[in-house]
Amino acid sequence: MRFNPRLLASARHIVVFTGAGVSAESGIATFRDKLTGLWERFDPAELASAEGFRRDPALIWGWYEMRRSGIAQAQPNPAHLAIAELAQRVPKLTLVTQNVDDLHERAGSADVLHLHGRLDAARCFDCARPAGAVLELPEGAGDGKRIEPPLCSACGGPLRPGVVWFGENLPEQALSQAFLAAANCDLLLSIGTSGVVQPAAMIPGVALEAGARVVHINPQVTGAGHAREFALAGKAGELLPQLLREAFG
Ligand code: OAD
Repeated sequence: MRFNPRLLASARHIVVFTGAGVSAESGIATFRDKLTGLWERFDPAELASAEGFRRDPALIWGWYEMRRSGIAQAQPNPAHLAIAELAQRVPKLTLVTQNVDDLHERAGSADVLHLHGRLDAARCFDCARPAGAVLELPEGAGDGKRIEPPLCSACGGPLRPGVVWFGENLPEQALSQAFLAAANCDLLLSIGTSGVVQPAAMIPGVALEAGARVVHINPQVTGAGHAREFALAGKAGELLPQLLREAFG
């Protein structure tokens, strides 16, 4: 069955759940897309784990500074903008993202729940104290070379990026707010995620079980298994503005 865009306009509480695909059209690499995905080209065990950081902090810090530099140069795309606009048009919208970039915020979205942290929220690897202000990007950060991490002003330990690494817990408050919103929404849009990384990947299922409609927007999506589940195959930056036009005229 085709998803009726008017359901966006009549929804009481929409949850928008995003993954790397929502930032793809801003030029930010996803993780698992063939050839271009970060985890197709780099080893997550080395670059996204506390063990990897302990082994070689400068390699890891340099790699994340390269990603932060790419994000700083990128601009929000029509998908980010459409999501921010949607929040203005419906009674309630909760935006939950797995992304560590700030493109939703720069598109105008507020109170974004970042389940996997934020690249620019550095904290001490040893004592966990936040670095405070966003650090200035060092010269040549975009090159991906080794960069020694700055040191914590409290304990002298190395700073680490504010992202969740494999084997680490998700930020508790963001996670519980996301699950609560999913359990109480009437429509969930799952946009640009492969849906394989737990526990975030459970969120659309929570909404579905609670009686909501779930719409997947992804060029790779081919089908949907449940009567209240819809798959729209295409790019978020094209489909979302179109859906909004159809929903709100
Ligand atoms: P993935 O790289 O696993 O999936 C990205 C999805 O976006 C794929 O299903 C693509 O088909 C889809 N996609 C690509 N271009 C798109 C576009 N223009 N519009 C819509 N969809 C598009 O990324 P995530 O699902 O976000 O974890 O990955 C989940 C987590 O795995 C990430 O948050 C990260 C990674 O390890 C941490 O950093 C902790």
